[in-house]
Amino acid sequence: MKLWGGRFSESADTLAYAYNASLPCDQRLWAVDVRGSLAWVRALARAGVLSPDEAAQLDAGLGLVRAELAAGTFVFQPADEDIHTAVERRLGELAGAVAGKLHTGRSRNDQVATDFRLWVMEAEARVLGHLRRLQQVLLDQAERHTGTLLPGYTHLQRAQPITFAHWLLSHFWALERDGARWEQARTAASVCPLGSAALAGSAYPIDRAALAADLGFARAAENSLDAVSDRDFAAEFLFNAALLGTHLSRLAEALVIYATAEFGFVTLADAYASGSSLMPQKKNPDVLELTRGKAGTLLGHLTGLLATLKGLPSAYDKDLQEDKPPVFAAFDALDVMLPVVAGALATLSVNADRMAAALDAALLATELADYLVGKGVPFRDAHHLVGQAVRLGPLNTLSLEALRSLSPAFEADVEAVWDFSAAVSRRSVLGGTAAASVQAQIQAGRAKLSAAG
Ligand code: ARG
Repeated sequence: MKLWGGRFSESADTLAYAYNASLPCDQRLWAVDVRGSLAWVRALARAGVLSPDEAAQLDAGLGLVRAELAAGTFVFQPADEDIHTAVERRLGELAGAVAGKLHTGRSRNDQVATDFRLWVMEAEARVLGHLRRLQQVLLDQAERHTGTLLPGYTHLQRAQPITFAHWLLSHFWALERDGARWEQARTAASVCPLGSAALAGSAYPIDRAALAADLGFARAAENSLDAVSDRDFAAEFLFNAALLGTHLSRLAEALVIYATAEFGFVTLADAYASGSSLMPQKKNPDVLELTRGKAGTLLGHLTGLLATLKGLPSAYDKDLQEDKPPVFAAFDALDVMLPVVAGALATLSVNADRMAAALDAALLATELADYLVGKGVPFRDAHHLVGQAVRLGPLNTLSLEALRSLSPAFEADVEAVWDFSAAVSRRSVLGGTAAASVQAQIQAGRAKLSAAG
C-alpha cells in the first residue's frame, strides 16, 4: 500500500524507491507517530469530521498497532515507505475501511514535523538526566578534593597552584550552562505543527490549540508554511549536542594528559580503560579519546543539518528527510558518552602525591611578586624583579643575599612565601581556588542541581 499511488501508472524503480524510503531511519519514531495519530483522531472527532463510533474504532485499531510495535511483533512490509505508511497500512489490516479516514485533513508534512518534535523533546529530557548525573559525579569528586593541590596550567605550562576540586568544578559549570541550554531548547521545541497539513493548513475546523495541548505541547505553531519546514528545534538539538560534546572533549583531553606516566595525576579504573593487542603493559584511556573524537562527529552533524536547511525554498522539501539521521546519531552518541564519562570520573583514582610532587617553586612566582607589593613595590616593578630572580635559579633556593641584590625590599620573612597551601588560601575571592571559595561553589552547584530536580 502506497500513500500516493493514484496518479502513477508505472511502479517505482527499485533503487529509486529505496532511495526515497526512510523507514530504516524513522521507524524509531513509531511511539510518537501513534501518539500523534491518536490525538489527530480525537481532534477530527471534536471537529465533527469523524463520528464517535469511527473515532472509537480508529482509537482501538491504533492501540492494537501500538501494542504490536511495542512488543516487537509488528511485521514491516517492503512497501512501507516510512513509519507513517507502515502504521496506516497495519491500521487498515486491523481496523478495516475506517482506517482510510485517519489521514483526513492531515499530511505527512505536519505529521512528521510533529512526531519529530515529540521525539526530540523526549530525547532532550533524557540527555538532561544524564547531564545532571554527570554534574553530580563532578560535585561528589570535588567534595573529596578541596584540599588536594596540583599545578594549575595555562598554555599547558605550570602557572599557579590550585585545588583539584576547583579544576573539577570548572567542568561542572560548563555543564551547568549546557543544562540551561537543553532546558531552553526543550521549551522552544514545544510548538505543535499538526493541523498545518501539507502547507496551507487543514481544511477542517480543527481546534489546533486543543490538539497541541492534547499532545503536551505548550502551543500550536502560528504559520502553517513555517510549521511544516521549521527544523530550528533539530538544529538547536545539534548545536547543544556539539557544544556539550566540546565540553566533554575538553574534560576528556585534560584527563588523557593527567593519566600519562609523565603526569600521573589520575589513574583510570580498569573498568574504564583498554589494553593493547601488542603491548602487554598498555592501559589506554580509549573512552576518553573516543569522547574527544565523537565531539568532532557531533560538530559535523550540526554543520551537515545547517547546510541542508539553508537552501530550502518555502515549506516542506524532501531534503528535510535528512534531518533525522544526524539527530538520532547525536542522541545515540550522547546517550552513551555521558554515562561513560560519568562512570570514568566516579571511579577515577586521584594521585594526590603525584600532584603534590609536580608543585615547584616557580608556581609561587606570582606570590613572590605579591610579597614585594606588600613591601610597597609597584606590581609592575615587582613582576620585573621576580622575572630576574627566576633567571638566577629555582626560586625557593635563592639566598636572601641573592634576592636582596635584586631589591632591598626582600627581607627574611620572604621564607613564608614558599607555601603552596598559603598561595591557594589567599585566593578566597568569589570563584577562587581557596577551600572556602570552592566550598561555596559546591554549595551553589548543589543548589543548582536540586533546583533542576
Ligand atoms: N519521510 C518523510 C520525512 O521524513 C515524511 C514526510 C514526507 N512528506 C512528503 N511530502 N513526501 O521527511
